Amino acid sequence: MRVAVVGTGHVGLVTCASMAAIGHAVVGIDSDKEKISQLNSGSCPFYEPGLQELLNVQVEAGRLSFVHDMADAVRDAEVAFICVGTPPRASGEASLVAVEQAGREIARNATGSMVVVEKSTVPAGTAGRLGQVLIHERPDLRTRLEVASNPEFLREGNAVKDSLEPDRILVGAQSQWAFEVLRALYEPLRSKGHLYIETDIPTAELAKHASNAFLALKISFANALAQMCERAGADVVDVAQVMGADPRIGRAFLNAGLGYGGYCFPKDLQAFERLADELGYDFPLLSEIEKINDQAVASAFSKVREALWNLEDKRIALLGLSFKPGTDDIRFSPALALARLLLDEGTEVVGYDPVATHAAKAEEPQLRIAPDPYDAIRGAHCLVICTEWDEFTALDFPRVKRDMAYPIVIDARNALDAKAMLAIGFAYQGVGRGALASRMGDLPHA
Ligand code: UGA
Repeated sequence: MRVAVVGTGHVGLVTCASMAAIGHAVVGIDSDKEKISQLNSGSCPFYEPGLQELLNVQVEAGRLSFVHDMADAVRDAEVAFICVGTPPRASGEASLVAVEQAGREIARNATGSMVVVEKSTVPAGTAGRLGQVLIHERPDLRTRLEVASNPEFLREGNAVKDSLEPDRILVGAQSQWAFEVLRALYEPLRSKGHLYIETDIPTAELAKHASNAFLALKISFANALAQMCERAGADVVDVAQVMGADPRIGRAFLNAGLGYGGYCFPKDLQAFERLADELGYDFPLLSEIEKINDQAVASAFSKVREALWNLEDKRIALLGLSFKPGTDDIRFSPALALARLLLDEGTEVVGYDPVATHAAKAEEPQLRIAPDPYDAIRGAHCLVICTEWDEFTALDFPRVKRDMAYPIVIDARNALDAKAMLAIGFAYQGVGRGALASRMGDLPHA
């Protein structure tokens, strides 16, 4: 089938690659002309494991191309995916300006029947408005342009696998015709047995927000539990393991740490809250999730301050700057939120990340960037692990201890082996690990 993909960010570009990989003829377009030129020169604009390789293969096979002109993108397309950004407004509500513009442009250039699919995360009710835009632009195609919803559940860092081996494919549509077009589109994945769910459109739209909000709820529950564990002398990692053994709960997303970040959970949760307001439903649980998430960064900051007393003349090493391992995305990164709190105290903050240093420096110019983790750590009074990259767990920690000014480690992701860190002689604190913590005053030579 011929497929147009409007927007080549994380979701759009992975959609381009995966749709081509399952055999469709795909054309990608973006309002950012430079990005399209970059893609045409064979380079992926962001770090996503496996994506560059998959794009190369699909472009070479002639199934994928990138164009500057919407007419070239949607000519003869049977499906057009809208994958543009839905950034938060000051109120937290999602801005749907780019979604409307994309819909308008697609309709203007449509050459025949087409299903226009929302893949961007949008509040329930968006499809209705988008449908009006399509009809307004092309009254002549009133019965041949239809909106559907097909939310994306991919995770950055795992996006290629998530889109080619999805745990579910969700399609919300209105007419039998649209359902049939999308069934044919996904047939290569359906035939492999991947769960395929069909609903009405508002249900599909709402299910995406509900899924992200529930995952954020699990993380905040774990972070609140961590606070309880620290006070009670209990271990949140063991508590999560016990809870997770119950299949009704599940172990995933119960990792206490620095909280969630990225371009999905923070903004989607806010947009979901605004939707609840708009629908006249009081849903205070959502704001509590956010409150606990903010406290996770504040708690790490307090641990650093408590360990070091005055921060002005100290050097802090932050390992991991992106919002999670496996990506160079620093949007709403808890690590950068912590860096800002420390910089505001006049602290020297030196960061290292395997792939996100460039983006982090652009976002936070005061942050010093080290070329490797040992450079960041040398002379530091405190080391904070902000994301759980494998590279950090494999460090030579006896060397780290020798190189630091003070042997203090705040493991804000519970990434390290706590017992090993204590045995080496670090003043070590994880998150919610009551018994597995020691402070400077506890060290024999401190
Ligand atoms: C999230 C969802 O997991 C995807 O299903 C969804 O498609 C995507 O948003 C989206 O809406 O586009 P993503 O933002 O890539 O994916 O990242 P996650 O792996 O979900 O992690 C989000 C944040 O939660 C990260 O900062 C991570 O460090 C944090 N996290 C995750 C925890 O603090 N604890 C955990 O147990 C799990």
